[in-house]
Amino acid sequence: MERTREMTSIGADWDKFYSAEISSKTPFFSRDGRLYDCLFAQQLNRELLERLFKTAGDLREITQKKEGADFVSSLLSHKRGMLYFVQPSTRTFLSFLNACHILGIKTSEIRDTSTSSEVKGETPEDTVRTFSSYVDLIIMRHPAPGFVEKTAWLMNRTGRPVPIINGGSGKDQHPTQALLDMYTLYRSFNGSVDGRKIVMVGDLKRGRTVRSLSYLMKNYKNISLAFVSPKEFKMEPDILEFLNKHSISFIETEDFGSVMGDADAIYMTRIQDEHDKTGESKKVDYSPFYFKKEHLKILKKNCVIMHPLPRRHEIEPAVDEDPRAMYWRQERNGMWARAALIAHIFGVDSKIR
Ligand code: CP
Repeated sequence: MERTREMTSIGADWDKFYSAEISSKTPFFSRDGRLYDCLFAQQLNRELLERLFKTAGDLREITQKKEGADFVSSLLSHKRGMLYFVQPSTRTFLSFLNACHILGIKTSEIRDTSTSSEVKGETPEDTVRTFSSYVDLIIMRHPAPGFVEKTAWLMNRTGRPVPIINGGSGKDQHPTQALLDMYTLYRSFNGSVDGRKIVMVGDLKRGRTVRSLSYLMKNYKNISLAFVSPKEFKMEPDILEFLNKHSISFIETEDFGSVMGDADAIYMTRIQDEHDKTGESKKVDYSPFYFKKEHLKILKKNCVIMHPLPRRHEIEPAVDEDPRAMYWRQERNGMWARAALIAHIFGVDSKIR
């Protein structure tokens, strides 16, 4: 890995490293002009996004036929991957697992610390380092913000680093969700994301998907965002500062109806009550932030309705039948986008394209 002298000195101290600007850290997590660790949405620039979208599209097409699927599954058949998901997950886990299998990577998994030696008092850091003795890739979901980054930092300082992919860390980042969300927007608008009006709805304060997706907006021109949430769960100031810094237009409102009719995409999210400290979610009426079947008539003809899922009541199931309901396709897009990312990390994407 090419590292500047400055990076090497920042990289020596975790607290100093953790508090540094993301832009100064990204070289530490790259090699030979490629992502090595995928930890933050800010690592995904437009050129890389479009390269990943092209690879994802090619993967979908090539693997429809057996000989294509066999070719793709030979590309990384010499690699082994670990899925360490100690926070609940259905689609991120399964889409990464199947993305690995599409590329021929053999997988192992831990989904609960009670089944690992952490139950005997081993630290999570030592646990992850142990994985690197056996595998060539670690994909992680962890409840502690910053932990995935810390393990990537630690791993890069050992003699046997392996790439780390963040499958969701605390309430701070979910970069591969942002990748698949942007891939869904890209496919829905035939590659024309510039100038779109995107409405994000729900618990924006504690939702890591909307945070990571907001970071990706800086790659596109003339995006307008509307953040719709109860006043208790407004988007955090650090994201608003980021948007201001990059001259990305946004408004904040509690009136969902006022922005529905003009939206090109509506991104619904659920209340994140797993982060409650004192049952604060129970004190909020969330129903004004639901998308109902009756709202479909207000939407533009080509508006897409998205949701990272899982949902509770935010989108009435009757909406699923509408062609603008994109969330089931969105979750499937995740498998292809994640396979494209893994292929990029291991440098086999050019063989697919
Ligand atoms: N969107 C998402 O992260 O879903 P899971 O929690 O099911 O992985």
